[in-house]
Amino acid sequence: MIMSEKTVGYAASAELAAAMDAADPMAHFRERFFVPKDEAGNEALYFTGNSLGLQPRTAREYVDQELDDWAKFAVEGHLKAKHPWLPYHEFLTQPMARVVGAKPTETVVMNALTVNLHLLLVSFYRPEGSRRKIVIEKGAFPSDQYAIESQLRFHGLDPDDCLIELAPRDGETTLRNDDIIETIDREGDSIALVLLGGVNYYTGQAFDMREITGAGHRVGAAVGFDLAHAAGNIELKLHDWGVDFAVWCSYKYLNGGPGAVGGAFVHERHADCDGIPRFEGWWGHDKATRFLMGPEFRPIAGAEGWQLSNPPILQMAALRASLEIFDEAGIGALVSKSKKLTDFLESLIDIAADDRISIITPRDSSQRGCQLSIRVRDADRSLFNVICGLGVVADWREPDVIRVAPVPLYNSFTDVYRFAEILKAALD
Ligand SMILES: Cc1ncc(COP(=O)(O)O)c(C=O)c1O
Repeated sequence: MIMSEKTVGYAASAELAAAMDAADPMAHFRERFFVPKDEAGNEALYFTGNSLGLQPRTAREYVDQELDDWAKFAVEGHLKAKHPWLPYHEFLTQPMARVVGAKPTETVVMNALTVNLHLLLVSFYRPEGSRRKIVIEKGAFPSDQYAIESQLRFHGLDPDDCLIELAPRDGETTLRNDDIIETIDREGDSIALVLLGGVNYYTGQAFDMREITGAGHRVGAAVGFDLAHAAGNIELKLHDWGVDFAVWCSYKYLNGGPGAVGGAFVHERHADCDGIPRFEGWWGHDKATRFLMGPEFRPIAGAEGWQLSNPPILQMAALRASLEIFDEAGIGALVSKSKKLTDFLESLIDIAADDRISIITPRDSSQRGCQLSIRVRDADRSLFNVICGLGVVADWREPDVIRVAPVPLYNSFTDVYRFAEILKAALD
C-alpha cells in the first residue's frame, strides 16, 4: 500500500473505532442479540438490519412461554396464559407508541405493512370531485405503488391522471424538501392524499415529516407515511407532527422476526370520527360487547378500531421481546449513537472511495437514519459480490446500489471500520 495522507488517516481509525466502542454506553446491547456466524465461527459483519433485524436472545423464551401455555391451557390460554392472549396485542401498544412518538390510543400492532396501508387508504383516501390526486415518491417502494394504483382503480380512477410523482432534479439523487412543499402548494386542492416513505428505502433519505404534514394540511389533503425504514431508525413524533396515519413493519429495525406483525398509527383527532369509512372486523369492535356477537359493528375509539382479526400471538411474543430492549435503550440514545456510527461509516467510505462509488444518501445527518446507499458506477455488481465473499452482509438494490445499515443496537464502530477495510481492499 502506498502511504498517503488518506492511508495514514485510515490506519488511525482502527484505534479510533476501538476507542469509540470502549466509550459507547450502548455497546452492551449487542450481547442481547444473536449475530450470525460464518462457517469458521466468525461473527458476520451484519449491515442488513434495515431488511431483517437480528434475533433478540430473549425471543425464544417469549415464544416458548406462549407455546407452553397453549400446551397447558389450550383455549383457556386466552384468559389464563401468563400473558393472556385476549388482550395480548395491548402488551405491545405502549412500547410501540414510544418508538413512533404517538399516544397509545393512536397506535396498534396488527397485520403486515401493505395490509395496513390498504386498510388506512380505505379510510383516508377519499377522492371527491376534482380533489383526487395522490402525491408519492417516484420510485416509491413497489408495494406502496401497487397499493396506491390499485386503490385508484378501485375508485374508478386512472393512475396516469391521479398520481403526482415527486422526482429528484436532473443530476440529483434525492428530493429537495423545498421541491416537495412547492409541489404540494402548486397542486393545491387537487390533492386528496400525500403518501411518502418516512425514510426512502433506496436512497436512505429521511423526509421532513413535520413540514410535509403541515403543507398537506394547508391544501386540505390527508397525509400518511410508510415508516418501514423509519420506525426504530429515526426519532418520530407522529402525534406532535399531526400526521393523519402511518403504517410500518417490525421485521427491520424493530427486530420482530421474519414476517413480523406490523403497526399502524391513526391520529387521535380521527379516533371517534363516525364519518370515516373503514373495512370492519370483529377485533376492532368495542371490547366490552365484542363477545355478545351482535350484528352491528361498534368500533373501539382509536387505532385499535381498525383491527380485523384476532392477533398472531407467537409473532407478537417475539416482537414483545424486542420492544422491551427498545424501551431499555430508549430511542433518543439509539438515535444519538446511530448518528455517530453512520457519520463514522460515511467518513471511512469517503476515504476508501474512488470514482467507482459514491454515497447517494444525504450528507446532512438530519436527513437520514443509519443507512448509507452506495451507488456503484456502471451498476457493476462484482464489487458487491467481492465484499460479501469477505464476510460482509449488506444488500444490493437494483439498479446500482449497495445498502449498508449500521444499526446502533448491535453494530459497533469496529464493525464499521472492518467493513470499510474490506471495501477498500475490494476497490484496491
Ligand atoms: C418501504 C417499504 N414499504 C413496504 C414494504 C412491504 O412490507 P410488507 O411485506 O410487510 O407489506 C416494505 C418491505 O420491505 C418496505 O421496505
